[in-house]
Amino acid sequence: MVDYRYALRGRFFDIAATADSPEEIARQARYVDDGLMFIAEGRIAALMSWEEGQSLLKRPDDWLDLSGKLIVPGFIDTHLHYPQTEMIGAFGEQLLEWLTTYTFPVESQYGNAGHAAQMSAFFLNQLLSNGTTTALVFGTVHPESVDALFAAAAQQNMRLIAGKVMMDRNAPEYLTETAEQSYQQTRELILRWHNHQRLGYAITPRFAPTSTPALLEAVQRLREDFPDTWLHTHLSENPQEIAWVKSLWPEHENYLDVYHHYGLTGKRSVFAHAIHLQDAEWNCLHGSDSAVAFCPTSNLFLGSGLFRLQTCWQKKVKMGIGTDVGAGTTFNMLRTLGEAYKIGQLQSYKLCASEAFYHATLGGARALCLDEHIGNFSVGKEADFVVLDPAVSPLQQLRNARCKDIYEQLFMLMTLGDDRNISQTWINGECAWNRDGLEVAA
Ligand code: GUN
Ligand code: ZN
Repeated sequence: MVDYRYALRGRFFDIAATADSPEEIARQARYVDDGLMFIAEGRIAALMSWEEGQSLLKRPDDWLDLSGKLIVPGFIDTHLHYPQTEMIGAFGEQLLEWLTTYTFPVESQYGNAGHAAQMSAFFLNQLLSNGTTTALVFGTVHPESVDALFAAAAQQNMRLIAGKVMMDRNAPEYLTETAEQSYQQTRELILRWHNHQRLGYAITPRFAPTSTPALLEAVQRLREDFPDTWLHTHLSENPQEIAWVKSLWPEHENYLDVYHHYGLTGKRSVFAHAIHLQDAEWNCLHGSDSAVAFCPTSNLFLGSGLFRLQTCWQKKVKMGIGTDVGAGTTFNMLRTLGEAYKIGQLQSYKLCASEAFYHATLGGARALCLDEHIGNFSVGKEADFVVLDPAVSPLQQLRNARCKDIYEQLFMLMTLGDDRNISQTWINGECAWNRDGLEVAA
């Protein structure tokens, strides 16, 4: 007998173990066509076939019927900015002009706790309605911005990592601080929020151009004071940005070396974009066990360049997928994977469905060093998952009926899918969002 709070019957797909190649992912893929998942105390208690599992039910009718639905681990978004939600889809600029024209003015509002709370609630609703159960999130320079976000995420008991932006030059005066202020405010936020429930703190210098040496020294001190926090920043996104870094930091060999010099590479370090890297930078990322976030819709929208997936595998660098809202144009991981596939196509790389879903789930968890807790349906993991409706439009129904296996169906979802396919999102063993308004029995 399994002691459980919920038993869910449906189809289940996940990747059983972390992998170092697409072939290994394919070997680790698990699909249960008619399965029963038991949930107890917010965790996966068991997953087995309906045949095997039904005798373990407390009563023959004590299960939730999700047959026809496809259940996958919750999506993990390894890079996005919650304050940029309200400026998504801003016209016409590449990175540096986009920042000054649109981003900085919008971010100026997040010193207002009321605005931050309102937008945090909106943002979390976007994550949940798109099946994203964990995210690594930028706030703004204002401590109020992350207080609001953490408070909202704590209410949902979400596993969310976030941090206040740190910047002390090359931004409007209303968004800059001194290195010392930045250190103190970040320190207070870490003490308040890091490891509170399922929350984690990411020390968040915006990027090298908005940091003085004194700021990166402050970041280094924080890393030393709090070694189990995350480090979250941007790296090598755009050619003008890279040239600017070279002019601001002429003594460093390359962009990543600026961060590496201050001890900011390492196990829980996540670098967003990493598009135009030199060989030495890939080697440093690997050698320091750092991770990168591949942000397909953002890279296309800002015209930043094509992330090199194949090189990332060859160099054995941990990678997760980021939506990078608001330079990214969707919160939806299915749509993001579809764009990742097209970036692969432009480089003759075939991103298959099992690899794509791995990056969005267990691979992302590994990039964030959270794969012990989340990312698949292994027994004991936290029960964060998404219930997908595999066909919600006439076109999807037509196409879905012709899919010959789960891989074609997953590929169809990442090509044609969107938020309409997200039927339910479960957080820590409870249904946190439900598109159909179905009652979930307590
Ligand atoms: N580099 C520095 N700041 C940002 C930002 O807000 N968005 C993106 N995409 N890149 C950045
Ligand atoms: Zn970003």
